[in-house]
Amino acid sequence: MKVLDTDFAKSFIRMCNDGWTFGWHESNGGNASYRLTTVEVSQVKAGFRAKPWVGIDTDIPTLAGECFLITASGSHFRNITHDPKSTLGIIEIDRTGTAWREVWGFKDGTHPTSELTAHLINHEVRKAATRGKSRVIYHCHPVNLAAMSCVMPHDSAVFTRTLWAQLAECAMVLRYGVQVIGWEVPGSIDLAIETAKAMETSNAVVWPHHGLFVSGDTMDEAFGVAHTVEKAAEIWCKARACGMPNTSCIEDEDLSRFSREYDLGLSRRQMFAKPVLGTPAPERVKLEVANAVPKKPPVQEKQEKVPDEVLANMPSVFHFPAEPAKAAPAPSPTQPEEPVYRFGIKKTS
Ligand code: 13P
Ligand code: ZN
Repeated sequence: MKVLDTDFAKSFIRMCNDGWTFGWHESNGGNASYRLTTVEVSQVKAGFRAKPWVGIDTDIPTLAGECFLITASGSHFRNITHDPKSTLGIIEIDRTGTAWREVWGFKDGTHPTSELTAHLINHEVRKAATRGKSRVIYHCHPVNLAAMSCVMPHDSAVFTRTLWAQLAECAMVLRYGVQVIGWEVPGSIDLAIETAKAMETSNAVVWPHHGLFVSGDTMDEAFGVAHTVEKAAEIWCKARACGMPNTSCIEDEDLSRFSREYDLGLSRRQMFAKPVLGTPAPERVKLEVANAVPKKPPVQEKQEKVPDEVLANMPSVFHFPAEPAKAAPAPSPTQPEEPVYRFGIKKTS
């Protein structure tokens, strides 16, 4: 069977294209990988053409012998549906988990993503965390999440609680919360390792001022996690930007009821962290004005008192004599009703 005729390849291409249409993949931003099942490998193996082995920065013994469909470095997600053989490829891990080689795709001299080490180490971590179920890693650059990372503390519990506060089902899709790591150079081993530490407890890692790195058992799950994080971030950004005071969010007791009723097992540390919702607008405006304008005592206009005798002798000043109180006018007899005219025509009714 040809790789591009398989369900896994079609689903992978659709996921990448959906990310592109959502605006999460400017230029060559983002990358993705899928760990094939043994059945899928046997379906497509006949078309493999192996290239030389390349050493991996770190050992990944639990991925020995596995095959991955993965995006090519520098490939633009907008082109994946049109040119999958250049923008994608399949790699195979050797029997010892210390080297990889290209076996399909990567036409026109392309190679796997610069985040290959991050993908491989994190596939290993997530495979262990999910007892072999996790198969997809997806990295994207969504705008609202990046904006949020500019103004939020990079604290995983606070970040998670703030996302959960925005959208009812965020806590359900994102039940392990997000982990926020420090800024690291894209494609670096440090970024791969810091992400792997974070992925031991969560399937969604925020790379501040960069993007989101998620995993899932299926492409629907991985994409759904990314979509939910970004949607909660978008609600947060829009509610902050509209200028109205923040008056409501999902409260601690609501979240804990939600967790109990759906058996979500939300962590108490994340559930009871204080969400960042911004200072209510009128308070903020008052504060800003108070800080911007230095306080000065109000200027009193000097008014010279004019002596009474001068006033009395001034020709222009007329003093009204005190008037006796007038009796109230007697009520007038009821007048006959005036005819009503409209546009000069007497109204009949
Ligand atoms: P690649 O084009 O090498 O996949 O890099 C894109 C990216 O988003 C790096 O983080
Ligand atoms: Zn990136």
